[in-house]
Amino acid sequence: MAFVAHDLGIDLGTSNTLVYVKGKGIVVSEPTIVVVESSNERRVRAVGDDAKIMLGRTTEGVMAVRPMREGVITDFDMTQILLQYFTRKAIGSSYLVKPRLFLTYPCSISGIERRAVMEAAKYSGGRKVFLVEKPFAAALGSGLPVFDPSGCMIVDIGGGTTDVSVISLGGVVISHSIRVGGIKMDEAIINFIKREFNILIGDRTAEEVKLDLGAALPIREERRARIRGRDMVTNLPQTTEITSTQIYQAIHEPCMAILSAIKWVLERTLPELAADVMHNGIYITGGGSLLYGMDQMIASELGIPVLLAKEPMDCAALGLGNIIENFDLLQHLGRTSFLKQG
Ligand SMILES: Nc1ncnc2c1ncn2[C@@H]1O[C@H](COP(=O)(O)OP(=O)(O)OP(=O)(O)O)[C@@H](O)[C@H]1O
Ligand SMILES: [Mg+2]
Repeated sequence: MAFVAHDLGIDLGTSNTLVYVKGKGIVVSEPTIVVVESSNERRVRAVGDDAKIMLGRTTEGVMAVRPMREGVITDFDMTQILLQYFTRKAIGSSYLVKPRLFLTYPCSISGIERRAVMEAAKYSGGRKVFLVEKPFAAALGSGLPVFDPSGCMIVDIGGGTTDVSVISLGGVVISHSIRVGGIKMDEAIINFIKREFNILIGDRTAEEVKLDLGAALPIREERRARIRGRDMVTNLPQTTEITSTQIYQAIHEPCMAILSAIKWVLERTLPELAADVMHNGIYITGGGSLLYGMDQMIASELGIPVLLAKEPMDCAALGLGNIIENFDLLQHLGRTSFLKQG
């Protein structure tokens, strides 16, 4: 039995949760989903990867819960169960002194919503809980010089939110978060197919179509795919063919909302820092940054270079890892003002 548990970094995302263990790296990377019995929500059937397979396929008496929506906890109990499960998976449960937990949170959630993240982490077994803004963690994880006296802009396009921040001298100078990300794109695809074809498709199918055909810019060589759903008139299974141009049109609105959020921050950034961003470029991370043409679309609309982070879906967790591994040094240097403590 270990006396002191390792420090843990948890990137609690709307779509995916990643856990970083000090000295080991990322040891858990699974969907933020819990499957429980409808009659007794404390009876957990599956969490993470196992739960995602069951999504949209659950039988009577069982339900799949996504406990986060748009970066915010919507089901406190389920979030706590999920955190507990992943913590045990990462470090086991045989320790006497509980771990210190470092979690990410979206920039513009309310104080109450932030406290809910704190509380869920404490209930799930955290001895001490520290919170870090998502883009700050993502910037650290992308290797950006966040402590330098130069502005860098980071845009984290996740499943539930897009967070845009300008960081300088170890702190967030300006940030903006919108409740638009990959999931809004999936919903836009569902609505498009409902409207155009009278066919209802599930969340999983919509996401698959997005990964296969989705683009932030029109694709020169049109591609096609067959999708299956339920005909809304006959209620019977139905198949139809869709094109990449149609999917581009379907997700155009959320892509434009992301662009507007970046413009909003640029317009309010101090001139010296804006000049740094023009020079250094905009860094994009998060699963949504992998959408085909997202980097080119932003670059061509704003006339600023856009760089895709190396491990876009791992950046925030790697940033937490960076903080955990260097915690004593950061404290010694007085560079921990970006941490919110609970
Ligand atoms: N290649 C890809 N193209 C387009 N979208 C993608 C791609 N890969 C992943 N995604 C999308 O990225 C989203 C998940 O990204 P990520 O794991 O960064 O989100 P999250 O951290 O869970 O959410 P948030 O930070 O908003 O709470 C999903 O909507 C997924 O469909
Ligand atoms: Mg995220």
